[in-house]
Amino acid sequence: MDKKRKTGIVIAAVLLALALGSAAWYGSAVESGRISKDSQTTEESGPEGENEEEKQDEEAEEEEKQDEEAEEGEAPEEEPSEEEEEISLEEENGGSVNSSSSQSTGDSYPRPAGTSVVSNPESITALVNKANFLPEGWVPSDLVSVGGGQQLRAEAATALNNLKAAAEADGYTFNVISGYRTKATQISLYSNYMAQDPEGAPYLSAYPRSSEHELGLAMDISPDWSLHYDLLETGLGKWMTAHAHEYGWILRYPEGKTEVTGYVFEAWHYRYVGKSLAAEIKSSGLTLEEYYGSI
Ligand code: DAL
Ligand code: ZN
Repeated sequence: MDKKRKTGIVIAAVLLALALGSAAWYGSAVESGRISKDSQTTEESGPEGENEEEKQDEEAEEEEKQDEEAEEGEAPEEEPSEEEEEISLEEENGGSVNSSSSQSTGDSYPRPAGTSVVSNPESITALVNKANFLPEGWVPSDLVSVGGGQQLRAEAATALNNLKAAAEADGYTFNVISGYRTKATQISLYSNYMAQDPEGAPYLSAYPRSSEHELGLAMDISPDWSLHYDLLETGLGKWMTAHAHEYGWILRYPEGKTEVTGYVFEAWHYRYVGKSLAAEIKSSGLTLEEYYGSI
């Protein structure tokens, strides 16, 4: 073998050894997580680090959700604005105009297909829920301030004052942390819930135009300024359970009625329906949906 050929063989052997060595290193690096097989880029942490990061993200999301719940009624409500659309309504079907098609107004929250529009939004006993939407552009005409930056319709505000006075006489005080909401406020709340948990949000927050808060007849109450899941177990909550109906208020989303109301138990959400209907709801134990379904 000549010298030139010998040198060539030696170089080829060295190159082969180098190639084999780096393939083995690459394989062990992928297994240990130092290199991601997909991206083939160096990562800062292995699978454990990723899990920890996800867990922290989940915890942060949960905290944000709780803050959002607590803040639901705290933000100052916007002044109600006059909407442009003329409303033409018919009195039928207990206050709703059936419609199987959604509106296409360019609205980013159009009324969903299969829902109806309430024909009697001015009525103190109007049913507004997941199936019965407020007319586009409808705004209560007689909103008044109830303190804390909140508003309610005049009759509900008077009933609230009477309720508060009676509660105070028995040693209980509370704040209205959310009363009337504009559609814009409801969009903001609903979209925040949706961004955090698209599956759970519809059980916690009403789709815009279907919230009783937009009706001006609902309030979220608190002994302080945040929502309390255990409110009904407190002195104030027990007092409300015993007396709220005497002033025309009902607990609208009771425990165990999610399948009927479409919402999880809300210990703080009261709806003004007037003394007569409140007494019937109280004595029957029915929700507003069940009551209207039964008459
Ligand atoms: N949280 C109640 C259902 C609402 O958004 O009106
Ligand atoms: Zn509420």
